[in-house]
Amino acid sequence: MWGGRFSGTLDDHMRRFNDSFPVDRRMWAEDIAGSIAWAGGLARAGILTAVERDELIAGLAAVRAEFAAGAFAPVVSDEDIHTAVERRLGELIGPLAGKLHTGRSRNDQVATDTRLWTLGALAQVDAALADVQRALLEQAEAVGEALIPGYTHLQRAQPVLLAHTLLAHFWPLQRDRQRLRDAGGRVGVLPLGSGALAGTAFAVDRPALAAELGFSSISQNSIDATSDRDYIVEVLAATALVGVHLSRLAEDWIIWSSTEWGFVQLDDAFSTGSSLMPQKKNPDSLELARGKSARLIGNLVTAVTLLKGLPSAYDKDLQEDKSPLFDAVDTLLLTLPVVAGAIRTARFNTSRMLAALDDAMLATDLADELVRRGVPFREAHHVSGRLVRAAEATNVRLRDLPAASFAQAHAALSDDVAALFDFTRSAASRAVPGGTAPSAVREQLTQAKHEVGGMQ
Ligand code: ARG
Repeated sequence: MWGGRFSGTLDDHMRRFNDSFPVDRRMWAEDIAGSIAWAGGLARAGILTAVERDELIAGLAAVRAEFAAGAFAPVVSDEDIHTAVERRLGELIGPLAGKLHTGRSRNDQVATDTRLWTLGALAQVDAALADVQRALLEQAEAVGEALIPGYTHLQRAQPVLLAHTLLAHFWPLQRDRQRLRDAGGRVGVLPLGSGALAGTAFAVDRPALAAELGFSSISQNSIDATSDRDYIVEVLAATALVGVHLSRLAEDWIIWSSTEWGFVQLDDAFSTGSSLMPQKKNPDSLELARGKSARLIGNLVTAVTLLKGLPSAYDKDLQEDKSPLFDAVDTLLLTLPVVAGAIRTARFNTSRMLAALDDAMLATDLADELVRRGVPFREAHHVSGRLVRAAEATNVRLRDLPAASFAQAHAALSDDVAALFDFTRSAASRAVPGGTAPSAVREQLTQAKHEVGGMQ
């Protein structure tokens, strides 16, 4: 493809080092779509006759059919997907194939292909994320008003609705989808027509190319356009965060699934056993989801490091952009359906959750009640804390402390406080929008359903 200037042949190690075909061959559909559009653009610019254009397009369609059938046979000189397609096109239609690359460079070609590929990938990732969200919604609906200990610092904090904790993992994924969609707006900018760096010397109608290929706008600077990989960093930042979110969800559920907690049981379909210990049922689906976040973060670091300090315009370093991008998308498309399935098929042990609630988790309710009875919160906090300590010291539940202890702790507690020791009431009192009261959680569910349905 570029042999004119060269007299020697490439060192064999160098050739393999330089080849990107094994990685970028998967962009065959995008590469051929871009070439078909380019042939049309050259014809409109008067560079190709209508007959030449049609012959090129028919030849490209034939190459496409070979890829689609898994019948494309690469040869050693296929350096990347672009040269491979053009080489095969030449074999099929002869020297006319040599006109296709007029006014084009692999620099604007690869940028176009990768953006096109990314647009398709974003739609798939969005659908897979939405399915994890739906699995959370289904379970949140199914568990009704079941209560669970809410934790901070992994210490029992306050009773909350199980549905509320499930939906706590819905919203981060919603933000992830928004981030990916937002990045998508910057992916859909057409670089084609930028040539190697200076723009093509033929009067191609770039907006028409953009429209034909499904881009929403065209790039404004050919030097920038051929080396801009910001969108890859943006997508990888968003997918790294998806990984972080999945790892946190996984961690919650892995803890819940331990014998000590016993809050959730994963279905056999999403667990594996131990080769040594017959009793083991391990939450491997979620452990792997947690583990995969490492490579999602690593991919972001690879991409952003690749760009630092690069001189303007295309440099071959940029060929290294695709592995992390492809890996992130592959990883998510592998991970997300597993996470969705593990969530959907899990069974909750709500009686274990209920049994794990203890009166100390109502200490805030006690303090709040004192506030309602006119005591400043700081003082109320202190009073409630002392009562918790007293209960702990005598090894009784807070509600079982003698009435005298309450009255002694504060005059405002001489009245009956028994009604306070009710986990359901505690949760129901947190009825602000976004709170854990059943009414607020119902509202949250409605909103979540609306959002998961509304995006796409
Ligand atoms: N395989 C290359 C890549 O992925 C295509 C662009 C090569 N351009 C060049 N001038 N060598 O980046």
